[in-house]
Amino acid sequence: MKKVVILCGSPRPKGNTAQVVEECARVIRDQGLETEIYPLAGKKIESCTACYRCREEGNCVLEDGLDDLIDRLREADGFIVASPVYFGTARGDVMAALQRIGMVSMATDGFLSWKVGGPIAIARRGGHTATIQEMLMFFFINEMIVPGSTYWNMVFGRDPGEVWNDEEGIRTIRLFAENVARLIARLS
Ligand SMILES: Cc1cc2nc3c(=O)[nH]c(=O)nc-3n(C[C@H](O)[C@H](O)[C@H](O)COP(=O)(O)O)c2cc1C
Repeated sequence: MKKVVILCGSPRPKGNTAQVVEECARVIRDQGLETEIYPLAGKKIESCTACYRCREEGNCVLEDGLDDLIDRLREADGFIVASPVYFGTARGDVMAALQRIGMVSMATDGFLSWKVGGPIAIARRGGHTATIQEMLMFFFINEMIVPGSTYWNMVFGRDPGEVWNDEEGIRTIRLFAENVARLIARLS
């Protein structure tokens, strides 16, 4: 079965990002695909140390568990990344994870190539579009395919659960998730 991995970039296990990610996964499952959510909550993700050992080892050698996500990604058809906005940009751990994943892909067999997915940004008030653009740099340099929706993949909310008040934001994410699933089906 086709599978989409979804990275949940918030440190809050039941926060807004986690709730949007759950909805995203539900829509993709409804389209007949498997989903796997990888939460960063409880994890401490190190930055790439430019050791380049991934070239020899085939995976990241830093011991914080990200190698496990990379193994799962190799088997997946899609990859969605959801991040809370912190000071107008993606949370640091999210970018640290993406930079390491991208480096391992480039240093090995380019396993990210042609995976379908894209970024989602969650914030109280501002910085969504810059955050989406920041994360898109990862998708586009790795030959990934990003479908659109009827707006950019952004949802408003501060306290956990507030995202459900942003009806247009949730609708945008649902359609994006559906388009990811439909595109994967078309490509196979
Ligand atoms: C360190 C920090 C920085 C933040 N910076 C922004 C920001 O620049 N713009 C914004 O609208 N919200 C900002 N927020 C609010 C969060 O993006 C918002 O509460 C979001 O819903 C958090 O997602 P979560 O519940 O998944 O953790 C910030 C929150 C924190 C903790």
